Amino acid sequence: MKDIVLSGIRPTGNLHLGNYYGAVRSFVKMQEEYQCYFFIADWHSLTTHPTPENIQRSARTILAEYLACGIDPEKATIYIQSDVPETIELYLYLNMNTYIGELGRVTTFKEKARQQPDNVNAGLFTYPTLMAADILQHRAKWVPVGKDQEQNMEMARKCARRFNNIYKTELFPEPQNYYFGGDALKVPGLDGSGKMGKSDGNCIYLCDEEKVVRKKVMRAVTDNGPETPNSPKPEVIQNLFTMMSIVSEPETVAFFDEKWNDCSLRYGDMKKQLAEDMVKTLNPIRERIQEFSSNTELLDRIAKMGAEKARESAAATLREVRKTIGFRVY
Ligand code: TYM
Repeated sequence: MKDIVLSGIRPTGNLHLGNYYGAVRSFVKMQEEYQCYFFIADWHSLTTHPTPENIQRSARTILAEYLACGIDPEKATIYIQSDVPETIELYLYLNMNTYIGELGRVTTFKEKARQQPDNVNAGLFTYPTLMAADILQHRAKWVPVGKDQEQNMEMARKCARRFNNIYKTELFPEPQNYYFGGDALKVPGLDGSGKMGKSDGNCIYLCDEEKVVRKKVMRAVTDNGPETPNSPKPEVIQNLFTMMSIVSEPETVAFFDEKWNDCSLRYGDMKKQLAEDMVKTLNPIRERIQEFSSNTELLDRIAKMGAEKARESAAATLREVRKTIGFRVY
């Protein structure tokens, strides 16, 4: 039997290059070899209270973008989280074994609580157990994610381990992070600090028009330029190089690195090249996004087919879970 893979993305806007290089690129690769479930985490997006119209539209948007990136519904199961109610039942059981102290220590919770002090809700607090339920309901062994999900993944492993220990079972495998190319990836933002995805201003979206991509890259934050040969790069400049090492060929990065070291680097030239390389990746994806977005009938059919397959897998796990805990199984 093939190993099981699961991953998901919150539909809080369009997919950006961070999502693509951190996660979706792995999805496309993994669907060839594994039994894959890729979903749209619309329940998770409720932590910030979107409107009903928003929810409908954004799930379809991500679905179209998944397909445009090359996720194939014949190879992988693509579904919307809220179509699989079994997830909620497992979420409840996992919450019973998860301690307030450990949830309170999750960095993303602490950050979100700081950002939205008027809305520190219980859903936000138990975000990691819902994520664990997403994973464990399919008994997934691999979870392709970016670096920012490390702590949530640690919690998912803890949930699996604790359930197995309490009930003296081996029902849940401990899910492992999967990184494309082997290393955890954090795609930097264009505003000189942190990761891509914090705000519109630091993001390149997969659906951005060519001229928008060029404009955003040309505006990326830099400094006055190299002054001392072979000096270490400040964070904003390192981010530009990190971005280039993700989207461009190694020779291109080496070329600009040499220019940094001999102080002849002109950021304008480097950004032009970076934009060029991004556009090459993004142009075909954007065209396919447009095609898929307009075909709502196809999107709804794929979501329905995915929901059926995902429910079948989740229901099989939940039968085992109910039996293990001591509940009746129908
Ligand atoms: P989300 O929606 O914030 O991000 C989706 C995926 O994109 C990756 N990512 C990045 N990777 C590298 N650099 C970046 N700048 C960057 N920005 C985003 C994330 O690491 C993630 O893999 N909690 C998840 C959604 C989720 C999930 C799950 C994931 C819910 N249940 C079960 C895996 C398994 C989240 O908020 O991702």
